[in-house]
Amino acid sequence: MTWTRKHLLALEELSLGEIDHIHATARVFKKALSGPPGKLSALRGKTLVNLFLEPSTRTRISFEMAAKRLGADTIAFDAARSSTTKGESLRDTAENIQALKADMIVIRHSASGAPLYLSNILGIPVINAGDGAHAHPTQGLLDTFTMRERLGSMRGRKVAILGDILFSRVARSNIHALTKMGAAVTVVGPSTLVPETLADLGVTVSHDLKSALRDAEVVMLLRIQHERQAAGMFPSLGEYTALFGLNKERASWLHPKAIIMHPGPINRGVEIDSDLADGDRSVILEQVTNGIAVRMAVLFLCAGGQKKNLP
Ligand code: CP
Repeated sequence: MTWTRKHLLALEELSLGEIDHIHATARVFKKALSGPPGKLSALRGKTLVNLFLEPSTRTRISFEMAAKRLGADTIAFDAARSSTTKGESLRDTAENIQALKADMIVIRHSASGAPLYLSNILGIPVINAGDGAHAHPTQGLLDTFTMRERLGSMRGRKVAILGDILFSRVARSNIHALTKMGAAVTVVGPSTLVPETLADLGVTVSHDLKSALRDAEVVMLLRIQHERQAAGMFPSLGEYTALFGLNKERASWLHPKAIIMHPGPINRGVEIDSDLADGDRSVILEQVTNGIAVRMAVLFLCAGGQKKNLP
């Protein structure tokens, strides 16, 4: 297919064909990364600015590595030492970065819609690295890339997403990708974090952990955000763990070949036992590694990369 998008804002706007195309491109880059060391050259001469206004470890570093692997220069915006602390607006910040001749912006922001807003103002590609509770498209892409590597086609596969779904941009992006791929997605957790309205996204809503996990081929855990407890969404972390934490017994309900996923950062002993996070069925660090090839594919395609420039 011919890629026509300049921005990557959310997976709900992508067709299944576009997701397949990103994954196919990522497979090419993953193979190239496993070959002899050395930079690829598709983005040589380009400069990418990582405009992260929220904390990040995995996403920020892997975008930086992805851009460098493609030959681009990268600049990490330092929010704490930037003029945003003097009250400069997001619009002015981004327009100044563009005036400095950046070729692409990767943005993480606490406000849902911030990447869309910039994409309407700027003339350069804008890539969403997580906006509020709305979307984290490259996380959804790397998660589904990892599932496809492990399981092949996702059509009809039972996937359980467990935890803080309501406020999770990761869950939302995965749901949009997985439903397009034909997976049978169940979201499960306490009713305060997993409301019935999520069924509108084409998933099964459950508050019964055993039935949600039974025979699931993928379980994706989400970080329990401590601030939800203060907001009265659940009584205590201990109670959450007692009712919904993934432990050895509960993992035995899964399909025998099931994989355990988590986007990170993980709360060991809260949403997942350490033994499971580090165990044979866990693909948590594989997800992180796949993030580089998937983000290379996104940067390459949104920068207008052509098939003839692929390694
Ligand atoms: N999964 C994820 O977005 O992690 P970071 O917040 O560390 O980037």
